[in-house]
Amino acid sequence: MTEPSTSRIAGYLSGFGNEFATEAEPGTLPVGQNSPQRVAHGLYAEQLSGTAFTAPRSENRRSWLYRIRPAAMHGSFEPFDQPRFHDDFLHGPVTPDQLRWNPSPLPEAPTDFVEGLFTVAGNGSAGAQQGVGIHVYAANASMRGRFFYSADGELLIVPQQGRLRIATEMGVIEAEPQEIAVIPRGVRFRVELPDGPSRGYVCENFGAQLRLPDLGPIGANGLANPRDFLTPQAAYEDAEGEFELVAKFQGHLWRARLGHSPLDVVAWHGNYAPYKYDLRRFNAIGSISFDHPDPSIFLVLTSPSDTPGVGNMDLAIFPPRWLVAQHTFRPPWFHRNVASEFMGLVHGAYDAKAEGFAPGGCSLHNCMTGHGPDAATFEKASSADLSKPDVIADTMAFMFETRAAIRPTRQALDAGHRQRDYQACWAGLKKHFAPPR
Ligand SMILES: [Fe+2]
Repeated sequence: MTEPSTSRIAGYLSGFGNEFATEAEPGTLPVGQNSPQRVAHGLYAEQLSGTAFTAPRSENRRSWLYRIRPAAMHGSFEPFDQPRFHDDFLHGPVTPDQLRWNPSPLPEAPTDFVEGLFTVAGNGSAGAQQGVGIHVYAANASMRGRFFYSADGELLIVPQQGRLRIATEMGVIEAEPQEIAVIPRGVRFRVELPDGPSRGYVCENFGAQLRLPDLGPIGANGLANPRDFLTPQAAYEDAEGEFELVAKFQGHLWRARLGHSPLDVVAWHGNYAPYKYDLRRFNAIGSISFDHPDPSIFLVLTSPSDTPGVGNMDLAIFPPRWLVAQHTFRPPWFHRNVASEFMGLVHGAYDAKAEGFAPGGCSLHNCMTGHGPDAATFEKASSADLSKPDVIADTMAFMFETRAAIRPTRQALDAGHRQRDYQACWAGLKKHFAPPR
């Protein structure tokens, strides 16, 4: 079987959540209406809704797709056996320990993106429409004859090693490490690995769709700027053959036969679409006097909950930046938070840990679990020369932060690459207390 190839990468449209209009063949999009009696070039019209029809206009997301065949055309679904990728977070006790893992081992046998997904932790469920699934992927093969979608949540993909070429119904996204890609709930796609062995992180957001945070006193610019979010222009493939559609639905995977490529959308318009963002474009803001602001200044995207100001899930990053604060402990402070924090490292080193947190690794610090700089970092920063600015040039760490506790999976707790001695990084913190006499 010859693998179809989306005709071309047609480039990107700029802006976050815009009303886009794009066609791979001229004259395809209907003018002045969505559903004409006959669509140009013999295509089918199909609406893809990402929010309730009656959601407020500012929240409402949907797109109209003009495609060779409707999405309804496929065989019956049957269970698909990939038990490492799931969202069963509710069973059994979970430890409040600080947890950390080495980078996920890369596979030796041929493994594509779907086969290479491994669920580390999560909370909530697709059924409850809140919470997240947190997964890592380690893969070495492009998806061949297979397409995937999640009906359970939008997928925030954070490549750490190797580029991803994500051919979606709505166009092609190429994302490299230090970029992120977001695939909306329901959008079908195929992941190709142009660099071979690849690894990264996926947050499956069961809650409200990710959006840019408000900026308050920061003003109209800064943090992640809307124009830097890129949505692919329409691109399609017209291919028939024996294909497989894998769906994640209510926590389980399913497969159905498909006689054609579902990436057959010739034109589309609307505001429900995949996008990518280069984390290196993040305009970091920080202290130019003393003390750190709270790390919410590093917020890239947020999925709001029904409580104002409290995210179902937040994506924060810790990008390259200058540290200039005076009479201040410059690395992150020791802390305990009501929110729970899953961290990963895409590139370089993280400034709160001298060792042990490698690119591709991850850590989990749950609700009210104490954590912070390791002993070596504390000693160094406590006696650092603050007359000079310091620069963190080579880093890109990120955090998935959630309001609900993040429950690690049994397979993650049992994994050989879990660091069972992680807590030792704080054991060397000395007692410095000297009471006044
Ligand atoms: Fe933290």
